[in-house]
Amino acid sequence: MTPETLAKAHQAAFTITRPWSAAEFAGLLDQRGVILCGDARSYLLGRIIGDEAEVLTLATDPAFQRQGRAQTVLATFLDQVKADAGAHVFLEVADANTAAISLYNKAGFAKIGHRPRYYTTLTGDKIGADVLRLTF
Ligand SMILES: CC(C)(COP(=O)(O)OP(=O)(O)OC[C@H]1O[C@@H](n2cnc3c(N)ncnc32)[C@H](O)[C@@H]1OP(=O)(O)O)[C@@H](O)C(=O)NCCC(=O)NCCS
Repeated sequence: MTPETLAKAHQAAFTITRPWSAAEFAGLLDQRGVILCGDARSYLLGRIIGDEAEVLTLATDPAFQRQGRAQTVLATFLDQVKADAGAHVFLEVADANTAAISLYNKAGFAKIGHRPRYYTTLTGDKIGADVLRLTF
């Protein structure tokens, strides 16, 4: 998938916080430990360094949502983390994003913290983020 494809799908999916640009995706894909799971319909960008991993972003094109795709790409990423001997997976998610929080809770993530005013919404408001962790 090209950075342009990733940015297009991000723009379609993200309705609360700002979608990422193709340049931002290109920069991340160049970084050490960054991996991409899934396809243009649903993908996860993550990072695995040592025994720690991070979900950087996860998006399903609205035309393909509620088909279990995000669950599948998340499971693929978690399998990769385990294969690389990762022990902890961290992520931040907007505290208003009940769909994503439900998805992460089902995968075994638990809330370990909260960052107030962490994200800026598309309308310019500041909203908080929950910090979630999964430990194998
Ligand atoms: C969150 C998101 C990735 C889910 O993608 P998806 O492919 O539709 O998710 P799945 O079909 O795999 O759903 C798995 C579970 O997530 C939860 N979920 C997904 N969409 C939901 C919704 N609209 N409302 C409530 N729960 C939802 C449910 O628990 C669901 O299980 P169920 O279908 O058995 O009820 C998608 O809605 C999206 O791209 N949102 C915008 C971007 C985003 O918020 N990314 C995550 C933050 S980084």
